[in-house]
Amino acid sequence: MNVCELRKSLKNGESSESWVIAISHFFKSYELNYGHGTDNSLDEAYWLLRAQQGWGPESWLQPPNLDLIDSIVELAGRRVIERKPLAYLLGEAWFAGLCFNVDERVLIPRSPLAEVIERGLRPWCWLEATDRVLDIGTGSACLAVAVAHYCPGISVDATEISDVALEVAKANVDQHKFEDKVQLIKSDLFSAVEGRYRVILSNPPYVPRKRLEKLPVEYSHEPMLALDGGISGLDLIDRLLIGAADHLTSNGVLIVEVGEAQEAFMESYPVLPVTWLQFERGGDGVFMLTRDELTGYLEG
Ligand SMILES: C[S@@+](CC[C@H](N)C(=O)[O-])C[C@H]1O[C@@H](n2cnc3c(N)ncnc32)[C@H](O)[C@@H]1O
Repeated sequence: MNVCELRKSLKNGESSESWVIAISHFFKSYELNYGHGTDNSLDEAYWLLRAQQGWGPESWLQPPNLDLIDSIVELAGRRVIERKPLAYLLGEAWFAGLCFNVDERVLIPRSPLAEVIERGLRPWCWLEATDRVLDIGTGSACLAVAVAHYCPGISVDATEISDVALEVAKANVDQHKFEDKVQLIKSDLFSAVEGRYRVILSNPPYVPRKRLEKLPVEYSHEPMLALDGGISGLDLIDRLLIGAADHLTSNGVLIVEVGEAQEAFMESYPVLPVTWLQFERGGDGVFMLTRDELTGYLEG
């Protein structure tokens, strides 16, 4: 299906469902990668349409607005020609049920950690009002804002090395009105961080260098600083492990996404007693480690 055929299908379509199906058929005609918030053409088509016509149920149930055809065809066309993730084209991404501003300055939120945060980080820890949480490499601030949202009363420090990512993070913290709960800190990992935290969370860059070149084109629109984990993928993760013990409270826990570097991680740390988390909504490569387990390993 080409853009002219898509335009025609939309003109003839009488319901939002028929528009979603038409857009999805259009996407399917090209070999798109769907790793940035959806994993199939129908969900991506639905996202595009809802973002254009508004997320309210009334706009969905009424016949689709013909005035939207031009912008939908333009966006769908750019999606297949530029291979740019839809999140960047729309300037929005959904994470843990919350909407975030995104552009090419930050990674598109997609961490399976959303599920854990929505449960208030239970059962890995039961937070109390005075507890502090640290998010390392905050990017869009999606993890930090979601923690503030789902763990009321908890204050979150969020570090980031990229100045431009911090601009996006600030826009999201402001939009969600968490200026008094989430503190953004320009920092190389722990360098500008003080005190100890009940939980340290991180989704650091972990893509092994060789894999970077083989990623679908969509990923080339994301900041290299957010993806590049060095030769093995473990550059930042090694440093995180060493620094975390000095920044966790005695009952603290470290939760880190290592994604596709999981195998390299297990080879490098065969006796580190991590717990690999399981997710109902999919995803893997996330471990949890208590401070005691970490210090036991580092001192052993
Ligand atoms: C994989 S992205 C994760 C972003 C966000 N937390 C998320 O889950 O979508 C990793 C982030 O870590 C940041 N980063 C890379 N090296 C860093 C460092 N040495 N110290 C702090 N942040 C770093 C990158 O700029 C990027 O925003």
